[in-house]
Amino acid sequence: MGVRAPGMRVRGNEAAREARKRRTFAIISHPDAGKTTLTEKLLLYGGAVHLAGSVKARRALRHATSDWMEMERARGISVTSSVLRFEYGGLHINLLDTPGHQDFSEDTYRTLMAADSAVMLLDNRRGIEQQTRKLFRVSHLRRIPIFTFVNKCDRLGVGPLELLDGIEADLGIRCSPVTWPVTDGSGFLGVYDRDEESLHLYEKGTDHGQTRPAEHVTALGDGRVGALLGERARAVLEEEIELLDEAGSAFDRRAFLAGELSPVFFGSALTNFGVRPFLDWFVAHAPAPGAREAGGRPVEPGSGGLSAFVFKIQANMDPRHRDRIAFLRICSGHYRAGASVRNTRTGRAFRLGPPQQFFAREREAVETAWPGDVVGVLDRGSLRIGDTITSIPDVEFAAIPSFAPEHFARVRVADPLRRKHLDRGLDHLSEEGAVQLFFSGEGGTGPGPVVGAVGLLQFDVLVQRLASEYRVEATLETLPFRDARWVSGPEAEIHRVAGGDDCALVRDRRGRRLFLFRNGWVRERTAERAKQLNFRRVQGK
Ligand code: G4P
Repeated sequence: MGVRAPGMRVRGNEAAREARKRRTFAIISHPDAGKTTLTEKLLLYGGAVHLAGSVKARRALRHATSDWMEMERARGISVTSSVLRFEYGGLHINLLDTPGHQDFSEDTYRTLMAADSAVMLLDNRRGIEQQTRKLFRVSHLRRIPIFTFVNKCDRLGVGPLELLDGIEADLGIRCSPVTWPVTDGSGFLGVYDRDEESLHLYEKGTDHGQTRPAEHVTALGDGRVGALLGERARAVLEEEIELLDEAGSAFDRRAFLAGELSPVFFGSALTNFGVRPFLDWFVAHAPAPGAREAGGRPVEPGSGGLSAFVFKIQANMDPRHRDRIAFLRICSGHYRAGASVRNTRTGRAFRLGPPQQFFAREREAVETAWPGDVVGVLDRGSLRIGDTITSIPDVEFAAIPSFAPEHFARVRVADPLRRKHLDRGLDHLSEEGAVQLFFSGEGGTGPGPVVGAVGLLQFDVLVQRLASEYRVEATLETLPFRDARWVSGPEAEIHRVAGGDDCALVRDRRGRRLFLFRNGWVRERTAERAKQLNFRRVQGK
């Protein structure tokens, strides 16, 4: 590495210092587990929303940055994500908000690439659900630490021991409870903090958790505990804690940081209970932005120059200006408008525009941003998802992976004269990550472009945006494939396996082949028959 100018060294130290003050995370959950409610309560503790649950705050959160699209308004869904910032325990916390609707989980996958940790939120009656499982797998790919918050404990759910067994068996991660629910068999009495060895007693508020409750905290050894909980609940708690101490997974920081062990918390976001012990523990243990790997060498937050990557592109966020916003996660250095940087994919140099942060529909121009922060910048079409933006020579971050879609459709255009517009629209929208684009012709799908999505609503958005932004009336013909894998191996073998009604072959924008299967069973059977082929669910760009 070349010699740095003295000024760079000072900035580098400052960037390292600022990075240590930041925590950037996302919440992963199945719809209805309480993500909106928990987000509100976290903001309440951070002082960002003074009265959590107020209609205004709630609506703003449910539709964070989202009303930009007619469809979202009509359906009440949130497609875009933004970053919510709050301060707690002397730290700047960036909560990367993700779409509430599971059909837009591709967006969540990419957002997870920008997070340093994740909070897995579960409903205490449902445990691990389909969407949690998928998002967990994506977080796990990155080996980021995962906290677990078991929500809705104000009402009885699955027993906590059974619930933890379920998580461990389903996800293959060890669980280490930090707090533990206390019940008398008929109702929720509070949580026991195993670290502090204290009881947080649940007092049912009258304001549905709109304010921070005065928590009554007492030591387990306090002689009054029996009277406070009732003898039966006290005995059960003691027995369970003993069992956890003897047979449960002890907290192990190395395993936690590697995403192999999850600290578990119990509480109720709605009544605002158990949220504070969680948040206190979170700020004490969540990792600050660390080094990011770029071509085999780590880029430290204090590396001296700016480095960032694009994890999301959003077009037309503001109907008054037809613009595109690229969301950047800063990995090192200092983001400053006017600074000269390079896009490593194109090799082109350009000047950074003013950074913007988003809260609900409001854009807030920020002066400066540091490692761990996420900023949106106006883009005129030169940025793509996964691009590295940097002032440091020879730094290029790993690609943001694509995940095999689960729905496929062939795109048709009524007016053949609009075909060029269709191609341009599909090109832009797939670059932006709204859908994945494939080309057929090798058998199975017939001619014409094929689009793939993780959720069907992505297709509705595509058709609507092609019409409004590219003036193309497109129709989609759904293809009967629900599973896919990228494939590599001997050419003859690929062609032997392709074809038939159950399986088709397409190419992605990079020319890589993807097998489409009618269902998971067909995929498994095909893989058994074609041992020379290599099938992948995740693909780098
Ligand atoms: P989401 O963003 O994950 O989809 O979930 P959201 O926060 O919207 O919560 C889904 C439902 O679960 C809401 O009820 C919410 O009030 C409820 N909920 C969230 N946290 C808790 C909790 O700790 N305890 C209990 N008992 N319920 C909880 P809803 O009836 O669908 O909506 P609303 O009328 O309450 O807004």
